[in-house]
Order: sequence, then C-alpha cells, then structure tokens
Amino acid sequence: MSAARAINLAVLISGSGSTLQNLVDHIAARTLNAQIVTVIASRPDLPGIQRAIDAKLPYAIVDRRQFAEVSSFSANVFDHMDRCGADLICCAGWLCLLEIPTRYDNRIMNIHPALLPSFGGKGMYGERVHRAVIDAGCKVSGCTVHFVDATYDTGPMIVQRACPVLDDDTPQTLAHRVFDEERQAYPHAIRLFAEGRLVVDGRRVKVRQV
Ligand code: GRF
Repeated sequence: MSAARAINLAVLISGSGSTLQNLVDHIAARTLNAQIVTVIASRPDLPGIQRAIDAKLPYAIVDRRQFAEVSSFSANVFDHMDRCGADLICCAGWLCLLEIPTRYDNRIMNIHPALLPSFGGKGMYGERVHRAVIDAGCKVSGCTVHFVDATYDTGPMIVQRACPVLDDDTPQTLAHRVFDEERQAYPHAIRLFAEGRLVVDGRRVKVRQV
C-alpha cells in the first residue's frame, strides 16, 4: 500500500487496553499515519472497551466463550475484519488463539512483553512474564513485535527493543520499563509494514532499506 494513505488498523483486545491507548495516542500525535477502523473485544466486560468508547472508535464484542471451537470464533472475527477493510490486525493484549485464513497471512501482528523466543507461549501474559524474567535472573528484558501464526508467540519477529532488569525490580516495575519500550516498538513495526518494507523470509523478517 502507499505510504501516503493512512493504514487501516483493526485492534484486538482482551484486557485493559493500554496497547490500544498507545496506538490511539500515536495517531493523535501524528507519529503514526493510521486509522483504527474497528476494535474487537473478546469479552463484554473488558476495561479496554471504555478506551475505545472514549476515543470514539467503532468496536464490536466477539465473546470467546460463546464459541465452542477456535474455528467458528476465528471465522466470526475475520468476517468482521473483512467488512471493516482492515489492512493490518494488531493484537493488543489479545489472549485468544486464532485460526488464520491465508488472506491474513503476515497481516496480523502481536506485541509480547519479553524478548522472544524466551518467556512466551500459552499462559505467558501479564505479570507472569515479568515474574519469570526476574526469577530466571535475566539482566535484560524488553518487548517483541511479531507476526502472528497458529500458536502463541511463535510467529516471525519484526522489532525487538531491550531494557535492563534491575536488582530491585518487581514484576510491576519491570512491566513499566518494558512498556516504555513497547510504546515505540509497536508504532515502529506498523510504520514499516505500512511502507511495504517488511519482507518475510522463513523465520526472518527483513527490513528493506529506502
Ligand atoms: C502488554 O504488556 C503487551 O505486551 C501485551 O499485553 C500487555 C498490554 O495489555 N500484549 P493491555 O493492552 O493493557 O490489555
């Protein structure tokens, strides 16, 4: 797509929506040339929905608990994406596995609050990630933006940013420092995608120079 046109984003949330808010803030500050065409929430009672309402964004609830199978849930999510004309889907604290139709291959991103491939996988979200990093004695942590594939946190990595782990860190203080990196990493990855600069080559995502 042309870098001149604002990219259409769909944002998927399962929690407090701080990642959604980050994207909203970057768009408002004109540091991200994008528009959010829909927000999808995986439950009706998520605090993140209020952020969508406050930002006057269209949103829909596709309640994961209403679907017995990943396939029927996914079909519902992607039908909605098709109707909204999303160029790129951004998982933003989204906790549900998706069965991805080929038309969305390499068009779905996620941000994970650690340096993958460590500290990812099923059940590794929120404070658990930062607790595991501290307990392992890591000296650095950070965040990873990656394309989404069929399993948790395993898709090709696009952008990583690192930060120190300090001796007196708690999961909360580390989460805060990592989130400062996330604020930059996600918009950066989206910009690269919008500019058509990401080339997926097996497990590697190469960034074309301009
Ligand atoms: C962030 O740590 C992000 O890395 C992960 O979810 C956290 C934000 O959740 N994917 P939320 O956006 O506040 O729900």
